[in-house]
Amino acid sequence: MISAAWAAPLWDARRYAKRIFDASMDKFLVKGPVRLHGNVTISGAKNASLALIPACLLAPGVFTLHNTPNNRDVWTISSLLETMGVGYAFADNTLTLDSTNITSHEAPYEHVKKMRASIYVLGPLVARFGKARVSLPGGCNFGPRPVDLHLKGLEKLGAEIQVENGYIEASCKRLQGAHFHFEISSVGATVNILMAAVLARGETVLSNAAMEPEVSSLAHMLVKMGARIDGIDTATLTIQGVDELHAVTETTIPDRIEAATFMIAAAMTKGDVTLGSVNADHLTAVIQKLEESGATVVVRGDSIRVSMDTDPEAVDITTMPYPGYPTDSQAQWAAYMLQAKGTSRIKDVIYPTRFGYVPELQRLGAEIETGDAYCLVKGGHRLTGASVMSSDLRASASLVMAGCIAEGTTEILRVYHLDRGYEAIEQKLMRLGASIERVSTEEF
Ligand code: EPU
Repeated sequence: MISAAWAAPLWDARRYAKRIFDASMDKFLVKGPVRLHGNVTISGAKNASLALIPACLLAPGVFTLHNTPNNRDVWTISSLLETMGVGYAFADNTLTLDSTNITSHEAPYEHVKKMRASIYVLGPLVARFGKARVSLPGGCNFGPRPVDLHLKGLEKLGAEIQVENGYIEASCKRLQGAHFHFEISSVGATVNILMAAVLARGETVLSNAAMEPEVSSLAHMLVKMGARIDGIDTATLTIQGVDELHAVTETTIPDRIEAATFMIAAAMTKGDVTLGSVNADHLTAVIQKLEESGATVVVRGDSIRVSMDTDPEAVDITTMPYPGYPTDSQAQWAAYMLQAKGTSRIKDVIYPTRFGYVPELQRLGAEIETGDAYCLVKGGHRLTGASVMSSDLRASASLVMAGCIAEGTTEILRVYHLDRGYEAIEQKLMRLGASIERVSTEEF
């Protein structure tokens, strides 16, 4: 039975959010096999929103962010900002944030432990107020995820940083522009240091900066706010610091990972799905791999149609920073390759241990071997429904996709991971013909 709260229209955003927060133990019952067909609208990018929202700490005023996805991470970061004095309202995918009166410069552990991107408040707070206290994020479900580059970058700009009692304490009079080279391409460190540099005195050059579209989308919003940034979309960002910025209205870019998830799901179920509100330029690596596997991909303006009528060829992937194949679509590709006519190698050089989904897929009958930073998926084995456990956001997506092709019912526990990053994923999949029932905590 689908709970009434989930059947409610999405305009009821506060209620929906409350449902998301209450849904920590919800599970999905997915019945397969199905073929997905029809149209789906892609939401705004979670990882772009998570950068745009804390950017409002850089200037006083009212920010309006259109096309903000209604997912758990967006509510988590908004409520973190609320503890700092930022008022917010969310309706119809428009988030309004009022940063006129910032009353606290602290991100407590209870927020940061829920979501690592909470560390994005560090750069803006220290740049604008000269002080910040942010809990260290700790590990995550797919291995260690250090924040050393965030701290080194801020130190290079002149911040004094101490780590004590699990908290990063940063202070400065005013940040000073500098040249900082990222030894590893890091989305999060680039976002944090970029937000700090726009208010630093003088010129900052960030080399080997991450080029993910989510970083560029933040840079474009900062420019609208009055920042001076050259080299957007390249690995070298040159920033001339300004004394102050102002509030703006911005529209969040489409979520390329949600799009990749639906594109791969369409091919995997031998379906025919047209995605709307997407940017195909952000999906080149995924489109190329889908075509290699035998899927037909047609791009028309802001829509992409993916169709497939045979079993896919086995196609290897290796994750890379953008514009390479994204780590956030790695688990979904592994699920897809369960259908392939041979063995494919899935290698993740960004997160070498991001294979928590493997034992769960094996419970459905998958033949997968793991090695050092890779797994080998042996396609063509019959999958049958079983109980499986979500371990992280993208792993959960791969389990839902596998459930759509397995015979019988797949029970997916802990779907709150999915709610963190996808807006109403089961509703979107059900509109395409999937059979998914959300069973809420109180019902089991
Ligand atoms: N790294 C360091 N030191 C640092 C920062 C990163 O060694 O200070 C390493 C990481 O351990 C990793 C690599 O650098 O091996 C790249 O990590 P990155 O910093 O780019 O990751 P992130 O900023 O923490 C973002 C996304 C992730 C996505 C990665 C990689 C957000 C909020 N998160 O994380 O998204 O996997 O980039 O593209 O933007 C997801 O959406 O499911 C997700 C996990």
